[in-house]
Parts: sequence; C-alpha cells; structure tokens
Amino acid sequence: MSFPADRPRRLRQSPAMRRLVRETHVQPSQLVLPMFIAEGISEPRPIESMPGVVQHTRDTARKAYAEAAALGLGGVMLFGVPEHKDAQGSGALDPDGILNVALADARAEVGDDLPIMSDLCLDEFTDHGHCGVLDAQGRVDNDATLEIYAQMGVVQAESGAHVVGPSGMMDGQVGVVRAALDDSGHDDTVILAYAAKYSSAFYGPFREAVASSLTGDRKAYQQDPANARDAIREVLLDIEEGADIVMVKPALSYLDVIADVRATVNVPVAAYNISGEMAMVEAAAANGWIDRERTIDEIITSIRRAGADIVLTYWAAELAARLDRQS
Ligand code: PBG
Repeated sequence: MSFPADRPRRLRQSPAMRRLVRETHVQPSQLVLPMFIAEGISEPRPIESMPGVVQHTRDTARKAYAEAAALGLGGVMLFGVPEHKDAQGSGALDPDGILNVALADARAEVGDDLPIMSDLCLDEFTDHGHCGVLDAQGRVDNDATLEIYAQMGVVQAESGAHVVGPSGMMDGQVGVVRAALDDSGHDDTVILAYAAKYSSAFYGPFREAVASSLTGDRKAYQQDPANARDAIREVLLDIEEGADIVMVKPALSYLDVIADVRATVNVPVAAYNISGEMAMVEAAAANGWIDRERTIDEIITSIRRAGADIVLTYWAAELAARLDRQS
C-alpha cells in the first residue's frame, strides 16, 4: 500500500465535496441583531467605534425590525438610549421610556413573526452608569436592584417583548424576573439569561453606543476573565432559577467557556459577539489588513462550532442577506 494511506485532503478537493462534509452551518434563524434606539433624535446617529451600526430613531428602527423579520433572523435584541438619566434609572420602568416604546413599535411591526428581545439592565438608564442602584457607600446594591429588575421584566413583557434578557449580573436576577412574570400572567415570556458575563475590555464601543455614563468598572459584579468554572456555576444557577436560554458573553475570548457550557446544559446556548469584537474586525478591514467578509464568516462559524446555538451579532442582517444569496 502506498504511503500515506490516510488522505484527509480527499474530502477537501472541491467546494461541493467540502460542502458535503461541513460540520457547522450558519443559518439566519440562528442570528440575533442587537439594535440601539435613541430618544429625541430625528436622524439615525452613527456610532463611530462601530462602523455600520447606528443609534436608530423609532422610525428607522421600525424599518429594521421589518427587514429582520423578512430575512428570517432569530430575533432582535433592543437597547434603549434615553435622553435623561437618574440615580434610580427610572426611565427603565416608564412605559413611555424609550426602550419600552421601542418594544411596542417592534411588536406592532412584526407581531409574532420575529422574536423581540429586550436588554433587562439599568446601565443605560442610570446617571452613574452602573447596572444597578447604589447603596449609601456607592456600591451596587444587589437586592434593591432585584426589585427594580422584577418590575422591568413585567413592563417589558407588557410593552411587547417575547424574550427578556437580564444582563446586570445581580445574584438572583433570573429568579425574581421569572416570579414577577409568572405572577403577572406573563408565563409565556422567555428569559434569555446573560448567564456568564465577563468584565471585558471588549465592551468599549458599546459604551459609546449607549452613551454610557460609567466611570470605573463592573468588576464587582461581572466575572473575572480568568475564571471558567465560575461560568458553569452561574449558568447552572440561572437554569435553576428558570432561564430558558443561557448566554456567554463576550464570545471570542470565551470559546472554551461556550464549549463547556454547551457540554453541561440541555437548554439552548447563546453567545454575544460584542461591540469590541466587531470593531477590531472593521478597523483591520478598513485598513485593508484582512478580508472583511471572510473574517466575519470565520468568526461567526467559530462561535457556532464552539457550541453556540444562537449568536448575537451586529452583522446579523448583513450575514443573513449574504447567506440568502449563496443558497
Ligand atoms: C448591559 C450590556 C452591555 C452589553 C450588552 N448589555 C454592556 C456592559 O455590560 O458593560 C455590551 C454589548 C456589546 O459590547 O456589544 N446592559
């Protein structure tokens, strides 16, 4: 027998052969588009550090919801950018607050054809920029924040969210939101828990996107990037508290965590390819240093291959349109 006997290259010889043996596929239905909707603007406002992403007006957002539905995306995840902030983040509970009216717009536009998801966190609404309210010493007060999150969950469900996404990393947040939803007749509302959320430098551009007021950091509640076992603990707690879907965030520096979580749980796993991860690609591509589309495809495929069933990505609509053309 001639050497080598094993020839893995045989299965790579043509596009058709490679397609036959491909292990991982990316479908529009697996992609969720995060969107920012700002109060009090009349034109969409570009976000400099996230090329191609804007703060939407309510009207331009409406078009994007319809487009997302037409593309067959897995959903849209909405973030509100309010005009006024205060220490309690009271805009988050106001049914006329920007996030809640945007949820209502989205539901009116697409009905049940597209899962409408809502970030459930106070950082966009507080003047200090933290994800919760502060105690007398200026620390983020876990249990006082839980009471507000519970109310937020109900307001968001009533505004039109099919899915709420608690993202503040308060202990017990999924449990209180689940109980509040159930007590108010919203037992159908899905909880996508930002279960393993790391304190990451890659959130940088997002802070511009939501005009964050944060000084300091979130290290006292978000996870230490050095810890993987801690993610499993967080994920299991969230499932026990009633999470329907668990998320790992960010994605790229945490592919090992995504794989661990996928191997450990039986609920759908999501991963968030966050602002800084996209900004790096856009910046390098703008310089001609990498092939933008190939890089995007490789990144999203790698997050799927690691084990994420669902990927939140700012490229969701673009990628879905491209997949559509290719098929
Ligand atoms: C919290 C939240 C953040 C992101 C999503 N939800 C910011 C943070 O925790 O600092 C980041 C998303 C991104 O960077 O793309 N509301």
